[in-house]
Amino acid sequence: MSKYKMNKAVFLQVRDFIYEHCGIYFNENKIYLLEDRLSHRIEERKLSSYEEYLYFLQYDPKRPEELKSLYNSITTNETSFFRDPTQLDAFKTGALPMVLEAKKPHDKVLRIWSAGCSTGEEPYTLAMMLVEEGLFMKGWRVEILASDISDRVINSAKKALYPEYSIRNTPAAIMKKYFTKTPEGYQVNNEIKRMVRFLNINLFDSGQVRAALTADIIFCRNVIIYFDDDSKRKVMGHFHDRLTDSGILVLGFSETLINLTRAFRPKGINRCVVYQKA
Ligand SMILES: C[S@@+](CC[C@H](N)C(=O)[O-])C[C@H]1O[C@@H](n2cnc3c(N)ncnc32)[C@H](O)[C@@H]1O
Repeated sequence: MSKYKMNKAVFLQVRDFIYEHCGIYFNENKIYLLEDRLSHRIEERKLSSYEEYLYFLQYDPKRPEELKSLYNSITTNETSFFRDPTQLDAFKTGALPMVLEAKKPHDKVLRIWSAGCSTGEEPYTLAMMLVEEGLFMKGWRVEILASDISDRVINSAKKALYPEYSIRNTPAAIMKKYFTKTPEGYQVNNEIKRMVRFLNINLFDSGQVRAALTADIIFCRNVIIYFDDDSKRKVMGHFHDRLTDSGILVLGFSETLINLTRAFRPKGINRCVVYQKA
């Protein structure tokens, strides 16, 4: 429990500040969660209340730095290798061949963006799957961009060193081929590491999103659950701009665009849904 208390008026201001900057929306029943996640920021900045913290975020010269720490504190970064295998299978057997077939014959570069990649398990999983699919043998080049708003998770992703918990769903054959066990954890091999480029991108910020590549496939799984409908629409608009014409968007299992936007058409593949740019 936090030793500092956030009253409702301050909560609403902090909540709105966060929402305007990154789209993450905290309901009024999340006051304790926010109190808990931000109490160490007050200590670190040697402040004495959430009012002072809000003021710091808005006006202090160190504001840009603090914004990064704020994102590191408020985001939920749960992830693992080979998360939601049914969905990955639908990607491999349905979405991927569809995208490859739609590419022009001279264009043998597949571009994938893992948006909201957390500590890197998702983009590295995709890299391993594409190697397993023999894409390189078939003459394809693969570019994977992985991004997150939190620079803490991006720095961790670049190290590509993982605890037992992260690899709990990884097939043994994949472990053997693409990881090296070290005293510090499981290290992703260089062949896979080299395939992924990491960037710190806030999906809510159109300027930052422009730094992303034009993708054939965007994975944005378990990210928009923290957004309200308006922020979801805004981010979907960004994805629409960044996708190639027949591009595919893959959201998390519990996420849907139904009744939200007509910019994407749902496509069912083996009990899963992916979205095609309309
Ligand atoms: C629960 S993790 C999902 C990781 C991975 N995609 C997966 O499904 O396993 C959600 C990630 O989204 C990131 N995120 C939240 N809001 C974001 C925003 N506005 N821009 C970029 N990333 C954001 C968080 O920092 C967090 O690492």
